[in-house]
Amino acid sequence: MAHTLFITGASSGIGLATVHYFRDQGWNVAATMRNPGEHADLAAERVRVIKLDVTDADSVAVAVGAALDAFGEIDVLVNNAGYGAFGPFEAASNQQIERQYATNVTGLMYVTREILPHFRERGSGVIVNISSVGGRATFPFYSLYHGTKWAVEGFSESLYFELAPLGIRVKIVEPGAIQTDFAGRSLDVLKKDGLDAYDDLVRRFRESWAAGRRASPPELVAEVIYQAATDGTDQLRYIAGEDAKMVIETRAKISQEEYYAMIRKRLGL
Ligand SMILES: NC(=O)c1ccc[n+]([C@@H]2O[C@H](COP(=O)([O-])OP(=O)(O)OC[C@H]3O[C@@H](n4cnc5c(N)ncnc54)[C@H](OP(=O)(O)O)[C@@H]3O)[C@@H](O)[C@H]2O)c1
Repeated sequence: MAHTLFITGASSGIGLATVHYFRDQGWNVAATMRNPGEHADLAAERVRVIKLDVTDADSVAVAVGAALDAFGEIDVLVNNAGYGAFGPFEAASNQQIERQYATNVTGLMYVTREILPHFRERGSGVIVNISSVGGRATFPFYSLYHGTKWAVEGFSESLYFELAPLGIRVKIVEPGAIQTDFAGRSLDVLKKDGLDAYDDLVRRFRESWAAGRRASPPELVAEVIYQAATDGTDQLRYIAGEDAKMVIETRAKISQEEYYAMIRKRLGL
């Protein structure tokens, strides 16, 4: 019998590439997203497009039920839905802070909790949480985003221990810069009328960031997700992209102070 993937945020970028990758390997895919009407063309043999907004617990329950009705079982959950807020923290509204956490953290928890009884009953299942290089290292003006991804790292690592005795594996995938809608349509820019004290710093950061950025294609992350989902090992973390590898390995090799000095210098801060 074919295996089944349940994935959130399947409308674009890493999520969409992962739908194609698993389908091409012969898997069933429950491709969930906020606006399924806009992506009806994705539905195909073995692929169901299902409505799911991770910030709405009711919609999560309905979507998991629909996937189980369609395919009978779920083998792998990929918590991919997420986006980044960019800008000085001081400029963030309550709504922007809450939405960032509701999507990247609470939403991921809702979906995980909804699928757990199914994984527990069958004594197996893999949960792949999409974190980021930004869940292991930080850059200025992404404080909200980093806060959410560091939360995903801690949450996932704790669950890794808690669920292993039940036969459920937890995996964290940490992409570097990836060519998706992340830096375009999905970016929530933090701005506040009259607040210009950070403008020069933001400009300098943007310039140094653009100069050092070499983004990888989303298919590379899909491949790493597939490896994490199917390698049958207890490995927790998987890095996707040479840039992420460089940052994470450098941080592990040198002292905290050296690392912070290196980042400050690179960013001209
Ligand atoms: N691109 C990068 O450089 C990068 C690097 C590291 C980590 N990541 C992580 O990779 C994941 C996917 O991002 P991406 O790069 O593929 O960007 P993307 O193309 O913008 O995709 C983001 C996806 O999340 C969905 N989403 C947002 N809010 C949602 C909600 N409330 N409920 C359900 N889905 C929601 C979006 O759906 P809509 O179409 O409805 O907006 C979209 O499908 C994110 O967790 C991101 O943090 C990305």
